[in-house]
Amino acid sequence: MNNLEYTLNEAREDFDQCKSLTDLDQVKAKYLGKSGVLTEALKSLGKLSQEDKPKVGATINLVKQGVEEALEKRREAILNASQAIQLEEESLDVTLPSRKEDRGSLHPVTQTLHRVESLFYSMGFSVANGPQIESDFYNFTALNIPELHPARAMHDTFYIDESHVLRTHTSPVQIRHLEKNKPPLKIISPGRVYRVDSDATHSPMFHQVEGLWVDQQVSFANLKGIIENFLQTFFDNNDLKVRFRPSYFPFTEPSAEIDMSWKGGWLEIGGCGMVHPEVFKHVGIDANQYQGFAFGLGIERLTMLRYGIQDLRHFFNNDLRFLQQFI
Ligand code: PHE
Repeated sequence: MNNLEYTLNEAREDFDQCKSLTDLDQVKAKYLGKSGVLTEALKSLGKLSQEDKPKVGATINLVKQGVEEALEKRREAILNASQAIQLEEESLDVTLPSRKEDRGSLHPVTQTLHRVESLFYSMGFSVANGPQIESDFYNFTALNIPELHPARAMHDTFYIDESHVLRTHTSPVQIRHLEKNKPPLKIISPGRVYRVDSDATHSPMFHQVEGLWVDQQVSFANLKGIIENFLQTFFDNNDLKVRFRPSYFPFTEPSAEIDMSWKGGWLEIGGCGMVHPEVFKHVGIDANQYQGFAFGLGIERLTMLRYGIQDLRHFFNNDLRFLQQFI
């Protein structure tokens, strides 16, 4: 009988030592298992006298009950403790900032196109568009570049078929617009153009913006003023200077390359000139009554200078690390 009470205390101590459910199962087996202390005690009841049996049996049952209670108590304690640890380990810091959403933005070339459009719009120009697959007539012939004319070699042309090309410049839009509209007119035509060329400063597809102003009195001086005004505003620099260098384009006469002052020197930024009488003839405008000027600027060039981009190919690689700088 004494032994049994001692067993209960011992079991309680054993359970208290248990750190895990596995430990607990082992101790449970020691007392309540098939050959556990209490099971053995019950088995040995048979050896006792009829008189002792009920008393000892009752005591064993009490002790067994006590052991079971101690077991449950400890099981609960272990479960609580492990839950507490889990809560601790898995705790969420609700004060952490949330994951950032990536924000999209317009491509730098598109941003420049928008800027160019709005600047010319503020000077009274409207926007005209034309097709990128252009007939030989609009891309060349009507611009005073007839077949077999050496000026055709100025453009390395992608031919679609014998009489269609990917437009090599935005100048054909001049012709399309002049055919359909009577002067006075004042347009710009921004868009994609194509040439067989590819390196750090040339891409087979790039963007130009064409300008055209036709009226009864439009001069070379107006042309220079417009270009200067545009470039100064575009680059936010009122000290920017513009220089015209004599040049040749079949569709303008006189013609000039447009240079602007840049980092102590000069940088070519486009071409321009007074609309050639031959061009007016193609679209039925009287060159004695009207005159006009036209210019063409490279959009990628403007963008590279504005943002200090070294390699033209960045525009077309779609590398997010590059593009995200223009948000
Ligand atoms: N179309 C010419 C080019 O792409 C540029 C230009 C446009 C020159 C208008 C004069 C007038 O080279």
